Amino acid sequence: MMTKLPVGVLISGRGSNMAALVEACEAPEFPAKVVCVVANRPDAKGLDYARAKGIPAVLIDHKAYGSKAEFETAMTAALEANGVGFVCLAGFMRILSPQFIEHWRDRLINIHPSLLPSYPGLHTHERALADGVKLAGCTVHFVRAEMDVGPIVAQAAVPVLTGDTPDDLAARILTAEHKLYPACLSMIAKGTAKVADEQVEIAAEAVEAAARLYSAGV
Ligand code: GRF
Repeated sequence: MMTKLPVGVLISGRGSNMAALVEACEAPEFPAKVVCVVANRPDAKGLDYARAKGIPAVLIDHKAYGSKAEFETAMTAALEANGVGFVCLAGFMRILSPQFIEHWRDRLINIHPSLLPSYPGLHTHERALADGVKLAGCTVHFVRAEMDVGPIVAQAAVPVLTGDTPDDLAARILTAEHKLYPACLSMIAKGTAKVADEQVEIAAEAVEAAARLYSAGV
């Protein structure tokens, strides 16, 4: 029996990327499994999905804590109580402190709906459309203290088409996100994607598969 990397997913809302990770992890040969989902909002729809899948789904409402440190301590405690060794942020909308990020250093990744370092932060689709760029996409990266910065695991590009609304572009990118995120988690869990000198090194045997991801949304 293969030992699977025990993963916790942090969400704030819909949770479609979390669901994509859970579904990928259901494959017997996938090298990771989702052992816990944590949401910081009681109305996070993803909690229902996780519960329906029988995955421990924990609400840690940031409003119930007096400080960010207490909120984050509660999250780490919940993750570790469920045996989590690696954390995926999936639409998690709280800025994490350097202490939390350091605790999970190189065991914490995020998905962002732009081709970083372009368009960090919010409203990425509106900003890309306003600039008239012809390629957009998504990025999976290891988390560092600065927002939407950190060693890039892989990216997927999608075209921006004339007449796109922000919602059209968001939907096209989201389809790519749902392929990219599980593929990145798989490479990390297998050890074929690793942080070295603040970049992600892809092992020779995984280079071609990683390159195929770059157009995952097309
Ligand atoms: C995704 O577009 C993700 O890239 C961004 O927030 C959105 C979350 O969507 N960080 P979902 O909750 O995974 O459906």
